[in-house]
Amino acid sequence: FDPKIAKFQTSDPTSFAYITVRKRWPNILTGAIDDVHRAVGEVEASNNDKIKDGKSIVEQLAKLKYELQHNRQLSRLEDDDEADVESYNAELKARGDPTWHNVEWLYSECYLYRRISSLFRRSKHWKSYDVFGRQKMSTFKSSRPAVLELATKYKAIVEQTRQKSTIVSSNEPTEIEEAEKVLFMEMCEICLWGNATDLSLLTSLSYEDIQKLQGANARKESEKNILVNDLPAAFATLQKAKKAGRKSRVSIVLDNAGFELFVDLILAGFLLTGGLASEVILHPKSIPWFVSDVVPKDFVDLLNVMADPQAFYATDIGTSSDTTPMPLMEEEVGNLRFLFDNWSNLHREGKLLLRPSRFWTHPGSFWRMPHTAPEVLEDLKESELVIFKGDLNYRKLTGDAAWDPTAPFADSLGPLGKGSGVRSLALRTCKADVVVGLPPGRDEELRHTEGGGGDSGARKWAWSGKWALVQLCDGKI
Ligand code: F6P
Ligand code: MG
Repeated sequence: FDPKIAKFQTSDPTSFAYITVRKRWPNILTGAIDDVHRAVGEVEASNNDKIKDGKSIVEQLAKLKYELQHNRQLSRLEDDDEADVESYNAELKARGDPTWHNVEWLYSECYLYRRISSLFRRSKHWKSYDVFGRQKMSTFKSSRPAVLELATKYKAIVEQTRQKSTIVSSNEPTEIEEAEKVLFMEMCEICLWGNATDLSLLTSLSYEDIQKLQGANARKESEKNILVNDLPAAFATLQKAKKAGRKSRVSIVLDNAGFELFVDLILAGFLLTGGLASEVILHPKSIPWFVSDVVPKDFVDLLNVMADPQAFYATDIGTSSDTTPMPLMEEEVGNLRFLFDNWSNLHREGKLLLRPSRFWTHPGSFWRMPHTAPEVLEDLKESELVIFKGDLNYRKLTGDAAWDPTAPFADSLGPLGKGSGVRSLALRTCKADVVVGLPPGRDEELRHTEGGGGDSGARKWAWSGKWALVQLCDGKI
């Protein structure tokens, strides 16, 4: 069901897949091995069974890393009682049992995380252990300045909206609408750039870089890096529903935990408070995925941080990024607690919901959705707007295929395109090769910027998260 266009392969030296399989995945596996090794060291010495179990996971992770580095075949997944094992294996067979350095990028990357998850699922004592959990929390901690800045801003917006009648009643409706639009765009852009800091690329970013990426100035500065920006059209659809007094649901297909989830919740809260949405459904992953993706526990953990931020910032998670804890000021604690109250109220009232599905961790593109997960499709159709966050979702929307960069976004979505009933908005910072919807000549221009790839045949400008795309496809028409 995937697009008929060629897909990016790990054998292609001009694709980011090439470096990914040879350098980035081994690094990610080394990180996972270190993490489990350390967690095993924290188990009580009397709990021999759990220690043995953990050591066996370390060995299996090391074996996986060896196979990957030595270009062995991707082995069949062992049964771990989950229904998707069969389809992963059937696809592996249909692909002729490929080797790591010569396989389709999208399939093999999903397989990698599914295989890691299977090692834990099949253990006795580590079934629900999130091998990336520690890393996610620690990176969130290093986003502290941006978190505090946004918490202050969010509180002000919510309070202002509550007193709206008194504050803006003297303004013309068009002025109010314009103000709403500006805020909407700003919130979405925060949400967009929140994606620039995912952990699978962290190997090349310092913590200082992350903080720089997140502040208000950085966002202004980055606006010129948004290559296509369909936010005005997205706002118009939500505004129309609001004016018509229609109930309007917004779905957010989540990407990363930590700072990105924090800003996603800020956006969700903003939409609900301002009446641009009556319900927001968040779609997390069901297993640890692409290092930093949100699983339901990350949502709970984040709320706990907001409930007691002082404790969080004072506790040493024990990673290299930890700095001497600096206590928060009273006002900062108050602002974060405000977020906690606000978000947990919305959650309790049923306006902010979490809806996991195994579909999101299947290996294929979203072109398969009508066949492999019709229930997910039906659910998304119920929404006024479906926001797909991040790079991987974009790769899955477009089938991770080598489209002409000027191909229309709607075409690249296949069955999720025009007439599908789904109105999709992709908020994506570019961290892979696939790109669509650019004006003619823009790709060439970007290739000729510094580090953009030049005439090498590689679209290097699209690998680092520096450039972004905000693309809307109205599948309701
Ligand atoms: O391109 C680098 C990469 O790790 C891809 O493998 C993956 O598509 C993406 O980044 C993950 O980023 P995101 O969290 O934005 O989906
Ligand atoms: Mg991710």
